[in-house]
Amino acid sequence: MNEKLTAIFSRRSVREYLKKEVPDQMVNDLLQAGMSAPSAMCRDPWHFIVVRDRKRLDAMAGGLPSGQMLKTAPLAIVVCGDPDQAHDHQESYLLQDCSAAIENILIATSAMGLAACWLGAHPRSERIVHLRDVLQIPANIMPISVLAIGWPAVPVAARTRYSEQAVHRETW
Ligand SMILES: Cc1cc2nc3c(=O)[nH]c(=O)nc-3n(C[C@H](O)[C@H](O)[C@H](O)COP(=O)(O)O)c2cc1C
Repeated sequence: MNEKLTAIFSRRSVREYLKKEVPDQMVNDLLQAGMSAPSAMCRDPWHFIVVRDRKRLDAMAGGLPSGQMLKTAPLAIVVCGDPDQAHDHQESYLLQDCSAAIENILIATSAMGLAACWLGAHPRSERIVHLRDVLQIPANIMPISVLAIGWPAVPVAARTRYSEQAVHRETW
């Protein structure tokens, strides 16, 4: 693995966190990273809800069956999209743009020694409704994913899932 890409290979889903806050400056760095992602026609149709309140994090976990790590995470960033802002009003562009921002945030966590896990909400309607309710998200804004973030309580090895079978050269 190329050492220059350590932050990418070290980005793993981590689901156990230390009881330690993430400083505001680091949260700002993560948001800066997210909003430096590419977006179709540079429409930047994304919004980010920073959640630190313990009760609110627990309430979010209540409606996300595979998001129970939120109960110990000191921070979540909820990535939402505004369909009216997306290029051509296309949901696909909205999801691609927001996913690019999400991955940038995850790589930034890795580069800064933080730990994170991507929790999908979209397209599961019950999760979308739950997040709308807990976070008072307006009807025209789509919650897409939750990022649980903290300091790693367990070591997770760097890796790639490189597969030659997934690579096609020149033609399929
Ligand atoms: C769209 C999406 C949704 C995901 N949702 C969850 C989730 O709800 N709960 C969870 O624990 N992990 C979730 N993950 C993390 C994946 O399980 C994880 O990325 C995958 O197993 C690969 O492991 P790695 O991230 O350590 O490389 C999600 C990842 C993606 C891209």
